[in-house]
Amino acid sequence: MKRSQPDHYTDKAKKAGYPARSVYKLEEIQNKHQVLPRGSSVLDIGAAPGSWSMYASQQVGPQGRVVAVDLKECSIPGGFQNIETFTGDAFSSEVMNRLRERGPYNVILSDAAPATTGNRTVDTSRSAGLAEQCIAAAEQLLTPSGNLVIKLFQGGEEQQILQQLRRLFKSAKPFKPKSSRKESFEVFMIATGFQGPVGPEGDRNDI
Ligand SMILES: C[S@@+](CC[C@H](N)C(=O)[O-])C[C@H]1O[C@@H](n2cnc3c(N)ncnc32)[C@H](O)[C@@H]1O
Repeated sequence: MKRSQPDHYTDKAKKAGYPARSVYKLEEIQNKHQVLPRGSSVLDIGAAPGSWSMYASQQVGPQGRVVAVDLKECSIPGGFQNIETFTGDAFSSEVMNRLRERGPYNVILSDAAPATTGNRTVDTSRSAGLAEQCIAAAEQLLTPSGNLVIKLFQGGEEQQILQQLRRLFKSAKPFKPKSSRKESFEVFMIATGFQGPVGPEGDRNDI
């Protein structure tokens, strides 16, 4: 597939010390929806190279923490003491057990994307598969009133996913950041106020 050209956001990210321009998508999401309250514990799924985790770490502050997981190694510079990284498939039972040990989380972010093939039907369907896995993970790992942000490729199951999120959260809305590339067909689902609480043992209760 053709590689995207560097642009204004690429240069801005480089100057600010972020390894990816995608940080500005999360910044727009945060400015509009305040998904990352100070002091929160955050799980970042599909975190590499690490811009979202770095931004989340700065937003939650030293009382908060970020657990970052990706198939690839993250390239987060030193000094981010409240970020812990894992390499592996976020949804494998081995990694999920380790994520569960460190949970529950007030916020789950997923900028995870499948390796694209160029076939839009295949790519969209794989992206929806990842989104479904994130929702299943959120049902186990998110605290009551927690927030979930998921990236999704448009053109497939976004309406079904939105309906599913609306059953689980007080609010769920699609959001298209200005910093998404013009040619990109991604959208972010912003779900706030998780209503299906989980206890420390994974039992539903009213903690
Ligand atoms: C667009 S990049 C994320 C960029 C990141 N938010 C940042 O700001 O640096 C998408 C990532 O999702 C990861 N990914 C896809 N499927 C995954 C899975 N099952 N488990 C963990 N990571 C996954 C890919 O390896 C890739 O690094």
